[in-house]
Amino acid sequence: MTKPTISIPVQLPSAHYNVLVGATALDVLSEQAASLVKGRRALLVIDDQLPDRTIGAAVTALSHAGFALATTHLHALETNKTLAETQRLLIAAADEQLDRTDLVVALGGGIVGDVAGFVAASYKRGIAVIQCPTTLLSMVDASVGGKTGVNLNTRAGLMKNLVGAFHQPSVVLADVRTLDSLDDRHLRAGLAECIKHALIAENAIEERDMFQWTQGIIPRAIARDQEALIELVARNVRVKAAVVASDEREEASSTVGGRALLNLGHTFAHAIETIPNLSPDDNPENAPLVHGEAVALGLIAAAYTSRELNMLDENAVQLITDIVNTAGLPTTIANLPDDATILHLMAHDKKAHAGSLRLVLLESIGVARVVENVEDEFIAAGLAAIRA
Ligand code: GLY
Repeated sequence: MTKPTISIPVQLPSAHYNVLVGATALDVLSEQAASLVKGRRALLVIDDQLPDRTIGAAVTALSHAGFALATTHLHALETNKTLAETQRLLIAAADEQLDRTDLVVALGGGIVGDVAGFVAASYKRGIAVIQCPTTLLSMVDASVGGKTGVNLNTRAGLMKNLVGAFHQPSVVLADVRTLDSLDDRHLRAGLAECIKHALIAENAIEERDMFQWTQGIIPRAIARDQEALIELVARNVRVKAAVVASDEREEASSTVGGRALLNLGHTFAHAIETIPNLSPDDNPENAPLVHGEAVALGLIAAAYTSRELNMLDENAVQLITDIVNTAGLPTTIANLPDDATILHLMAHDKKAHAGSLRLVLLESIGVARVVENVEDEFIAAGLAAIRA
């Protein structure tokens, strides 16, 4: 019997909406779209890797709800998360004569959601968007919380998410059936963000057993047990929703932490993932790393940096390495450039503040903290730990 869809409220100062998680969540796209927006035109932005049945289901649902549709595809590569692609989609919306009461629907992973969300945020100064995430990573993280945007190629290199807007979706439909077409590598990559949530869960909602629970459910998720995937997505969305609700626009002080805690491992990851020749298994055909793989390495580097600063004990570092291993994600990486190169890249991450490195580090499993002015030698200890 199909399990009922779980509805998780996201209650923010600027918006209230639900994340619907289940094995039939996309079935309600028609009624959700019809009830949430007044207009009857929509731009449907589709990840071009999705199978016809997923695309067909979304097209049929929106057509049944009476929407005139412009459909457009996006190839989900970081290099396509650009202003040029944004412009292409904005023109598609304008050609279809969408007005401010109309709708953008994002059907795909984080890249599609970020770009389509940014199109919705900027078209006519903002129209509604429904996020339909089709990757584990976008279900548990990117589709929830309203961050949208694109990368910018600057003199200093590729700056991730440098241009964007906060623009909350009207609803998020996380249908785990869509994960059937997700390859194992990307399923595992999504687990990196689940591990991250488990490592900050006590900050967010006093979820004391989340790490152990995550360690237990990972093998079932990898085996694609549908019930396990629904539980995993729902529990992670609750953590994400709680963190975002505490600090919608990432404005909390370092002492409070707030939404910045979601960046655990990410300053390392954003540096590592811009290096094109890194591969999770040393096979050049698998280069570059996907985001979740870089996050996994970033979590381990952050754990070792925390230990070097005497914030975290050795046992916790080992448990973190073990859970990353259980998820089949890399714990070390070959061909990592020297520390100076990585430190330079990390300093250019937009999360660095005024030239000094501000990192999210761990006090224990479940409790993270923002640390200002982390000196290079402590970061070097983190990098040494992930060098193969
Ligand atoms: N993915 C981090 C955030 O939503 O703030």
